[in-house]
Amino acid sequence: MKAKITGLGVWVPDNVVTNKDLESLVQTSDEWIVTRTGIRERRIVPKELHYKASDIGSFAALKALEAANLKADELDGIIVASINPDKQFPATACFVQAKIGASQAFAFDVTAACAGFVVALNQAALLVAAGQAKNILVIGAELLSPVIDWSDRNTCILFGDAAGAVIVGESNNAGQGVLQSGILRSMLKSDGNASEILYLNSQLSFNEKQIDPENNLKPNCMNMDGKQVFKMAVKELSDIVSRCLSAEGLKPSDLDLLVPHQANSRIIQAVGERLGLKENQVIINVQKYGNTSSASIPLALNDALLEGRLKPGMLVALAAIGGGMTWGCNLIRW
Ligand code: UT7
Repeated sequence: MKAKITGLGVWVPDNVVTNKDLESLVQTSDEWIVTRTGIRERRIVPKELHYKASDIGSFAALKALEAANLKADELDGIIVASINPDKQFPATACFVQAKIGASQAFAFDVTAACAGFVVALNQAALLVAAGQAKNILVIGAELLSPVIDWSDRNTCILFGDAAGAVIVGESNNAGQGVLQSGILRSMLKSDGNASEILYLNSQLSFNEKQIDPENNLKPNCMNMDGKQVFKMAVKELSDIVSRCLSAEGLKPSDLDLLVPHQANSRIIQAVGERLGLKENQVIINVQKYGNTSSASIPLALNDALLEGRLKPGMLVALAAIGGGMTWGCNLIRW
């Protein structure tokens, strides 16, 4: 039995914050941000909406359920990945379960920062393939704006708010081996010795002080050594995609599409080059949303589908890296 993605849904706030807008907060420029990151704008949830991760996760979840033609009470499980969960506990997945009415589902969270989606997708695929569940909802729900230091130009220009969700169900495609549609294999890796290059100190709920640029607050905001993260991302993402392919007897040249975590277009281009991929084989949409952590891969998949670049039968690699450091790859026959 293989598991496959049977539905996809995304949610982004309407509120667009451009690079030009950030020029009034920190010493930066549209030109610097575009050249160094590829980002042109990001979406930020207005604080007066008081949304939590479970709210925006539920918005994306309902769209994914509709796409999969499934009702919430047909779900067996919910897995949420989030850097800024509703509470320390219970799991944000439990709040989503209540909000969407998934009465039959178990629910838990994974903590793997920007790699949260690939880790959660791996867990869901294993549960379905093992026959323990038929339909699992996987969500990356990221309200990053409250945990960003808006006076730190090294980080505040990078991130955005968004949520993405997929339904993981059974693959009934009759193909054999790597030709059968579904999640063929996942590979995960971590290096806890690199935990200091990207971290967020403590659990936060929505705290207005955090989004006030006048407050020079840092302890509860995201901290990052951008250069170290950049180097590690390029090396480890290309390595894990190659190893995941090789474990299935495949090579990078067999790949139709790479859908990587959207952190920085330069990282993505460097990974694509290392794998020998052409520009049109790599999905980049970081210019529209910035880095949305565990929501970025579903957002990229959604754009790839809308643009007609992701088609049935394609061999697709999802790859992400984030705080931990933790990284992973899901190899999918779409
Ligand atoms: O999901 C994973 C999370 N994070 C990432 O993947 C981020 C990975 N890292 C990166 O994307 C890049 O390292 C950054 C975009 C964060 C930084 O780009 P960089 O090319 O590594 O720049 P840098 O840190 O070496 O900074 C170069 C210069 C510095 O000035 P000096 O020391 O050369 O005078 C910085 O102070 O650019 C300056 N700088 C800025 N200038 C204008 C740093 N941030 C900004 C800014 N606007 N926002």
